[in-house]
Amino acid sequence: MAPNAGILAAGIQAGVAVMGIGGPRKSLEDIRRIAAARHLERTLGPWQLAGIGIGAIIGMGIYTLTGVGAGNAGPAVILSFAVAGLVCAAASLAYAEMACLMPVAGSAYTYSYVVLGQLIAWVVGWSLFLEYALACSAVAVGWSAYFAGLMQSIGWTIDPQWLKGPGNGGTFNVPAAAVSIAVAVLLTLGTKESARLNTVLVGVKLVALCTFVVFALRGFDAGNLEPFAPFGTTGVLTAAALVFFAFFGFDAVSTAAEEARDPGRDMKFGIVGSMLVCTLLYMVVALAAVAALRWDLFASNAEPLAHVLRSTGYTTVANLVATAAICATPSVLMSLMFGQTRVSFAMTRDGLLPRQLSAVHPRFHTPHVITLLTGVGVAVVAGGFRLDEIAALANAGTLCAFVAVAVSMLVLRRREPGLQRDFACPAPWLVGPLAVIGCTGLFFYLGQTTILFFLLWHAIGLAWYFAAGRRGSTAA
Ligand code: ALA
Repeated sequence: MAPNAGILAAGIQAGVAVMGIGGPRKSLEDIRRIAAARHLERTLGPWQLAGIGIGAIIGMGIYTLTGVGAGNAGPAVILSFAVAGLVCAAASLAYAEMACLMPVAGSAYTYSYVVLGQLIAWVVGWSLFLEYALACSAVAVGWSAYFAGLMQSIGWTIDPQWLKGPGNGGTFNVPAAAVSIAVAVLLTLGTKESARLNTVLVGVKLVALCTFVVFALRGFDAGNLEPFAPFGTTGVLTAAALVFFAFFGFDAVSTAAEEARDPGRDMKFGIVGSMLVCTLLYMVVALAAVAALRWDLFASNAEPLAHVLRSTGYTTVANLVATAAICATPSVLMSLMFGQTRVSFAMTRDGLLPRQLSAVHPRFHTPHVITLLTGVGVAVVAGGFRLDEIAALANAGTLCAFVAVAVSMLVLRRREPGLQRDFACPAPWLVGPLAVIGCTGLFFYLGQTTILFFLLWHAIGLAWYFAAGRRGSTAA
């Protein structure tokens, strides 16, 4: 360990202790006993892990935020994808180490509970609500735009007031709300996406994006790339903080750690491989888009990739790409909403949220109360707000959770250096701080309104924690 890194870890640990804010911690041994009792078979190889990652990562982000990103960075949005991918790759390696140590429900919330204590775990869990639930809303809004665009191209125009929320000049985004409720109902009925369906959908998403690249590149015009970075570094980083959304979902690989055949080797491949594929693919898609059509002509379009194709004369291809997006992305919505219910479940089990929320349906054996409540919440936000506003707040929650995971990894390295780690993050004293600094830096590029909403959300969360959550806790 580099001496400076040691000082950093000691500083973090001392900070948490001196502030005395950690609160009670869960025992790592208990967590590992629960995980060991599950006996999941180790069947996943490196390629399957990479497939799981790519399937979970690629969703509506690339289909929609390429436009918003280009609006902030111009053609340099290509670099924004690289920055976001690098920060996510660092965070995902830290995630994987923690997921291998604690392969149980709750992800970042559980890791923080063990390493940093209950209060920080609460803040992280409350942030994960933003990550998962708002990401669902953002995916639903993107889905609605592609759905409406496709309907319009076949002659069925939806009144625009039913495609936007009141803050955006409309009344309510009905398709976005409808797809959110539909997914919540499917989850309540116990629908699970099968591994086979996931493979098909990963294929559909990859083929659709590659098709976009092939046709958009036909219209490559180097003139569209000038000036490359009209808003400078600030623009690139502001866009990076937004397109960061397109990388969520990699924790699906981390949480599959206990099913990896050889975690030490396969996880590295699965995580780095899926990150690399997605980052490169996103950069190529962004390059194809900004080179085919001047960035300002699609920056504010709700379905930018289809718009680029339509504007360059490929209407049928645009409709095919839109159809693929419409068919394949509800699965991302499903896994994000499932993730949300799992985090809520872990928090209710620990007594921090009312236990009634995790009631299990007698017939479907699913946590129907929390699932349907999540569905309604997701639908209301999706129906009422703009995609970039929702995605920015979802990113704020996610960045906060990633910082906590990287800090947890560093603190645990220092506190329990001898712990057997099936997967050890390579160069932890470089990767961990990179994740912490990268995520914190991007957070501050999200804009004042987002940060304000983030603080407000946490003020509400902390009020609940001190008024009721802490008292209800099983660890109190
Ligand atoms: N990464 C996921 C998406 O882009 C959330 O939709």
